[in-house]
Amino acid sequence: MTLRNISSLGTIAALLLFVTLSSQAAATRHETGAAATGVNDGDHTELEEAMEVMEDELRVLRKSLKDQTKQATSLKSIVAMQDAVSKAKVQTPPMAESQPAEKRADFVKEYRRMLIRMGKQLLDLEELVLDGKTEEAGVLFKEIRNMEDSGHERFTDDG
Ligand code: HEM
Repeated sequence: MTLRNISSLGTIAALLLFVTLSSQAAATRHETGAAATGVNDGDHTELEEAMEVMEDELRVLRKSLKDQTKQATSLKSIVAMQDAVSKAKVQTPPMAESQPAEKRADFVKEYRRMLIRMGKQLLDLEELVLDGKTEEAGVLFKEIRNMEDSGHERFTDDG
């Protein structure tokens, strides 16, 4: 066996080891439930990321909804909020853990129900904006915005 053969065998062995270790790492990530807890690779959970999107888009909408020439901006923001709500509603709020075991499932269900409601209101808002019904859109926007406080009071530890 020549020196070159030995060195390519070494490369193949190293590659095999790398592939094995990577797939084991992926399997471990899967088992520990990165998806189940909604934890992303970064510092934020998927729930936090979705909520942050909602916060950013609300800020855009607060101004754009009043301005008919910004209809396209409003529609884009509303759809981004709908996406964020869809992502948030399938997560488990961290506060669920501190609920008594027999109440936990209902707590998570109520949380999801509230975000389903918000998703429906966002669809209504989309329709109003599409139809140029600025005043009605403004009223509904306030209702949606108020859900931030009621949602946090009920489903977060620091209210
Ligand atoms: C327009 C409405 C809303 C806005 C702008 C908003 C915004 C936020 C923000 C900025 C955070 C903190 C994210 C972070 O830590 O990086 C947060 C967290 C959270 N929000 Fe909302 N939110 C809204 C509505 C709701 C609703 C309706 C619910 C419940 C149905 C809800 C439940 C939560 C929960 C469970 C957390 C996580 C708290 C924790 O980590 O313990 N939010 N939200």
